[in-house]
Amino acid sequence: MATETIIARIDPKDPDTEVIKRAGDIIRAGGLVAFPTETVYGLGGDALNAGSSELIYAAKGRPSDNPLIVHIADIKDLTFIAKDIPDEAYLLADKFWPGPLTLIFHKTDRVPERTTGGLDTVAVRFPSDPIAQLFIAFSGGFIAAPSANISGRPSPTTSAHVTEDMDGRIDMILAGDDSLIGLESTIVDLTSDHPVILRPGYITYEMLKEVIPTVTMDEALLSADEHTRPKAPGMKYRHYAPKGELTIVKGSSSDVVKYINEKICEDSASGLKTGVIASDETKDEYSADAVLSFGASGDEASAAHRLFDLLRQMDDLDADRIYSESFDETGLGSAIMNRLTKAAGHKIIEV
Ligand code: TXA
Ligand code: MG
Repeated sequence: MATETIIARIDPKDPDTEVIKRAGDIIRAGGLVAFPTETVYGLGGDALNAGSSELIYAAKGRPSDNPLIVHIADIKDLTFIAKDIPDEAYLLADKFWPGPLTLIFHKTDRVPERTTGGLDTVAVRFPSDPIAQLFIAFSGGFIAAPSANISGRPSPTTSAHVTEDMDGRIDMILAGDDSLIGLESTIVDLTSDHPVILRPGYITYEMLKEVIPTVTMDEALLSADEHTRPKAPGMKYRHYAPKGELTIVKGSSSDVVKYINEKICEDSASGLKTGVIASDETKDEYSADAVLSFGASGDEASAAHRLFDLLRQMDDLDADRIYSESFDETGLGSAIMNRLTKAAGHKIIEV
């Protein structure tokens, strides 16, 4: 599928609306455009056009039972694609939209099943990124967009990541700044008897609970058993995986450093290239071939922002064995640990 990809640099402080209009025309004609959002870059197509969704799956190499999120830029458009909208939705939308929250509703017939992976529900997000909003509006209002990575790779948080994965596969890339947040949106299902978090994100369980006290986490997210089937189809796939083997190490800082350094010695003796994902405070204590920092210890916003880039850098460095320090599973830490755990294929060591 060799396509000439237009890479258009967009200055978020002074976006060229002509370029974004051109992107909108591509979508209306059934093409694909990658665009920045506050979470990660999205790979957009017309959500109401089954053919566009088909192209998205092909460009990503994504299994077609994994539904796409429909992005809107005006809350009034919600009822066009979603029905049986509960009151909780408006409470959540009031507080967190536009922003990094995706809500799942029953869908109307206007949304093709190709977009929802055969489900009769639809995931909807109203992003806060101004370029994303302009692009959605110029495209007709409904953009289906998964993260703009090749299926299985870390989500793209810079336009360079998008180019790396999508050049030659899609019509256009709107190249803006690095993604502010760096992890995909929180997903909340509003189609069962109470709201359920299917994917943790920047909008945390604690924040959601303040608005909807009955909200719970999908059991599959809490289960240590990787075979419990999650309700968001995409959550069952191995994801974000670097090429090297990633292990998360939990424990007191000194025990973690000691354990990882022992492993590095063994790996090096076997001729393997090693990498460590550490904090600013601990990074100098490791003897690995490459040590990358997620930021100051406990700075979860920085860790979220950098995580996917760090995983991609480990690939660029050809690390065979990668060790990562861990995060407390509260607040934003839950989302970071969710992505790290998947990247590690559930390989976690407690020391
Ligand atoms: O932040 C984000 O959400 C980014 C940006 C581009 O907006 N998008 C994103 O899309 O992360 P994607 O396709 O990489 O992840 C969508 C997730 C998948 O795990 C999918 O299974 C789930 O949402 N999902 C979508 N529709 C669903 C539905 N109707 N029911 C349950 N899960 C759904
Ligand atoms: Mg994705």
